[in-house]
Amino acid sequence: MLAELFAAAAEVCRDRSPLTHRLLDDAADDLRRGGVTARVMAGSERDREGTVPGLRFAGAVHRLVLEGRAQGLARHYPTVGGRPDLPTLWRDALPVLEDHVDLVRQQVQATVVQTNEPGRSAPLYGGLLVAAQEAAKAAGRTVPFCVRLLEVGASGGLNLRPHRVGYRLEDTVLGDRDSPLVLDPEWTGRPPADLTHRLRVVGRAGCDLHPVDVSTEDGRLHLSSFVWADQLPRWDRLRAALDLAATDPVEVERSAGPEWLAGQLARAERDVLTVVWHSVVWQYVSPADRAMGRAVLADAAMRATPTTPLALLVFEPRRADDGYRFELLLKLWPAGISLNLGHGAGHGTPFTWSVTPWE
Ligand SMILES: C[S@@+](CC[C@H](N)C(=O)[O-])C[C@H]1O[C@@H](n2cnc3c(N)ncnc32)[C@H](O)[C@@H]1O
Repeated sequence: MLAELFAAAAEVCRDRSPLTHRLLDDAADDLRRGGVTARVMAGSERDREGTVPGLRFAGAVHRLVLEGRAQGLARHYPTVGGRPDLPTLWRDALPVLEDHVDLVRQQVQATVVQTNEPGRSAPLYGGLLVAAQEAAKAAGRTVPFCVRLLEVGASGGLNLRPHRVGYRLEDTVLGDRDSPLVLDPEWTGRPPADLTHRLRVVGRAGCDLHPVDVSTEDGRLHLSSFVWADQLPRWDRLRAALDLAATDPVEVERSAGPEWLAGQLARAERDVLTVVWHSVVWQYVSPADRAMGRAVLADAAMRATPTTPLALLVFEPRRADDGYRFELLLKLWPAGISLNLGHGAGHGTPFTWSVTPWE
């Protein structure tokens, strides 16, 4: 039942976003009473749990605030300069919902929850340095390979510029120190690579089932609306990543992974390491697409040579003794290298580098 899904979504953000927790908890009560939330969510009553209707509702409300259409509610939203006053939040949300029932309903129905998390560029950057250097060593070279980066499930493509981001460590800044986006990667340990080498990216491409065009106001609002509005560090990170994207556009194609990947992998560039990358995508991919994607990659792996090597680099949740943890995994062909490089928080920071074989 929808009210239970709202309550479950509220629980997920209890500790991390008191504002979203309170909004969804009060909305769940309102649904049970048949209040305005029931009219807003009309037509979404049978939506699957995996589509997270509560977060789509919270995102649609946040979007109203960002668009300046929710005057009375904006004072609670830090993303527009407000300060949450939780006891009066729902009282102020009600008139906004009443005024915009149709708009919020359309938004909830038209949208899919989408986060494109720039923090994941930090493990990606370290993983690419390792891949470029290990592939070079295996080919008997002293200079790391240049990289062609192919991202499946790229969303708005915010992680397609890992070489144009700065990574602030205690003693230095890796990557581009002048970038609008400088991350604190919060690394324990370091990538097993020579960090003084520059990462050279000579090609980038991405695909997504629901690509977000961040060159448009609509695309930027879409990604922004799903940041929980009292998480200002994430908000600032997203703004900086959007600013960076504006200076260096990369189109994300609309496609499910396998066909797109097959097209991209049909050609290989000499002296370039092709890296297939995906982060927090695998759980959404259908079993048929997973099998097809594996076959496409296996086929390309057989064609890889020491001068046209191929890598798979993924940052995905994997089952562990205490639930799930997000691990960075690397495979290299034809070198036959298969490594688990470490694990971190779902948004990419903090991250612990700790190399073991990837079984
Ligand atoms: C949680 S988001 C992660 C986005 C991005 N990889 C990141 O780490 O910031 C998952 C993305 O996977 C996309 N997606 C899901 N299934 C897909 C498929 N079969 N092919 C391509 N993209 C897919 C979704 O549209 C969404 O943009």
